[in-house]
Amino acid sequence: MTNFQTSINTDISQAVEWLQSGECIAIPTETVYGLAANALNPAAVVRIFEIKNRPAFDPLIVHVSGLEQAQRYAADFSPPLQMLAEKYWPGPLTILVPKREVVPELVTSGLPRVALRAPAHPVAQCLLQELHFPLAAPSANPFGYISPTSAQHVFDQLQGKIPYILDGGPCQVGVESTIVGFENEQVVVYRLGGLALEAIEQIVGPVRVELNQSSNPAAPGMLKSHYAPKKPLFGSGRWRLDGGQWMVDNGQLTVDGRRIGVLTFKPRTDLPEHALQISLSESGDLAEAAQNLFAALRTLDQADIDLILAESLPEKGLGRAINDRLRRAAVRE
Ligand code: TXA
Ligand code: MG
Repeated sequence: MTNFQTSINTDISQAVEWLQSGECIAIPTETVYGLAANALNPAAVVRIFEIKNRPAFDPLIVHVSGLEQAQRYAADFSPPLQMLAEKYWPGPLTILVPKREVVPELVTSGLPRVALRAPAHPVAQCLLQELHFPLAAPSANPFGYISPTSAQHVFDQLQGKIPYILDGGPCQVGVESTIVGFENEQVVVYRLGGLALEAIEQIVGPVRVELNQSSNPAAPGMLKSHYAPKKPLFGSGRWRLDGGQWMVDNGQLTVDGRRIGVLTFKPRTDLPEHALQISLSESGDLAEAAQNLFAALRTLDQADIDLILAESLPEKGLGRAINDRLRRAAVRE
């Protein structure tokens, strides 16, 4: 694989050039950074899978500037999905629709539907409007690891593998898009994400939530751990945060002899004095917590600890998407 001198820059025209020449580059979106390439160029799309180490059965989201461009790749938009696109695009919403032939099989992993999203980030919007093709882009992280929410996160993991990272600053939403589709006359949510379930139900009424291990029925249960730090992560049920087994050893908090770091929603004052605690939001705001989630997990992953203990958040609004990421990141017992 080519070894690139990876540069980070805010120059959109340089990004356009790389993409036109069939390269993969990292681009900002309001959710997480994406690893983008021309979705209509199979050779460029293959490189995405290689760079990410991503199995070919896991399909990619195709990014478009808006509904008008989306119609070129969708064979059909059922009315509820069209209403959602009209209301929430550009934004953190991905819509699964039957694909037109022009979309390469490689992008959809041979599945009949294509995932379309119009990102709201102004830099991504500007880029998409300058291109005459849509962008296939998964999150710009090695497969299974935490998604990047800054240009530096991308650099830390993909340095040398891509020529360019288009810097759009820290991501404002912080968790991946919500994925919806339409089956048996009902809107189905396949991934909880940056657009709250409540916002979707406000437009189309009650939806079915069907969170799969894998998007591809041909590969059920293949994707065990996802969004995961390298350090083992446990939900707070494992050791009750208010339980009595805490110990301080050499100035560090330990449980059963293991050094721990704690991820909390709001700062907790009932933890032992030496606890390494990272809080997602000072004021207990769920959108702010989502924005900080992946950076916090990276910090804990790099800290001098043996394991991470993560508190659950309220199961509403963006709290659902955060809890979902924490569950998938957690060690299975
Ligand atoms: O916020 C986001 O959605 C980010 C940014 C970059 O847009 N992208 C992202 O992509 O999270 P990725 O590849 O990490 O997750 C995409 C997921 C796939 O794993 C799969 O579950 C679903 O989208 N997906 C994509 N295409 C599909 C298809 N044709 N059929 C079913 N599921 C699909
Ligand atoms: Mg991903």
